[in-house]
Amino acid sequence: MTVALIGAGPGTADLLTLKAARLLAEAEVVVVDRLIDESVLALINPAAEVIDVGKKPGGSSSQELINELLVTLGRRGARVVRLKGGDPFVFGRGYEEALALEAAGLSWEVVPGVSSALAAPAAAGIPVTHRAIARGVLIVTGTGTNEDHLDFARLAASGITLVVLMGVARRAALVAQLLEGGLAAETPVAAISNAWTAEMKVTHGRLDDLGSMEILAPAVLVIGAVAALGTSAVLDSAALNR
Ligand SMILES: C[S@@+](CC[C@H](N)C(=O)[O-])C[C@H]1O[C@@H](n2cnc3c(N)ncnc32)[C@H](O)[C@@H]1O
Repeated sequence: MTVALIGAGPGTADLLTLKAARLLAEAEVVVVDRLIDESVLALINPAAEVIDVGKKPGGSSSQELINELLVTLGRRGARVVRLKGGDPFVFGRGYEEALALEAAGLSWEVVPGVSSALAAPAAAGIPVTHRAIARGVLIVTGTGTNEDHLDFARLAASGITLVVLMGVARRAALVAQLLEGGLAAETPVAAISNAWTAEMKVTHGRLDDLGSMEILAPAVLVIGAVAALGTSAVLDSAALNR
């Protein structure tokens, strides 16, 4: 039996792929992360065993334990689904889980999901690329691990959009590095919290405000000229539920 690593999308079940919905309905065991919307969980086969491995700050199932769990379940021959927020291969550690399954001789497949990296800006009406003002987009983590490898001076000069995931806690440090790299203090920024849920909140500002802006996690930060764009109609989260 193939273990399916499924992307749950960024919020409510409307943004789930049809394949993901079908596999959830057929699953016998589902291993879920935190931040998965109730409307997605409601699509799981009612007879399935649901195992919550949600990683909460401070206390969590380690990635190694999750890998071992998936291998154990896969060996039982059950229909196993691993349900992850957004897309499993965008800051989702989905590939590590795939490798663990591969090493155990088990078959796996990935079902892509709509990543918050693109869907959160879209929810605010922000296009991450724009023919005139942003010829590309770079998706990065705001956690310390990869930051040291980013060339902020070149980024600042490139004029492409920067989309930052997991960046709320360390945003002040990120701003300092971008300013030091030469990005203008007035560069537009936008923060989209809880995109595609009823709690969605969009905040616009400029780069030198970002450190002090009130932003609830989870949020996607957009830095660059496109962050000044957006449509007021979609800022009303109620519009998402119409
Ligand atoms: C561990 S990463 C997982 C990303 C996920 N695999 C994806 O493709 O969206 C978690 C980060 O995704 C972003 N995120 C996930 N869901 C979000 C949402 N509904 N609204 C805003 N940001 C979200 C936040 O930056 C959060 O810190």
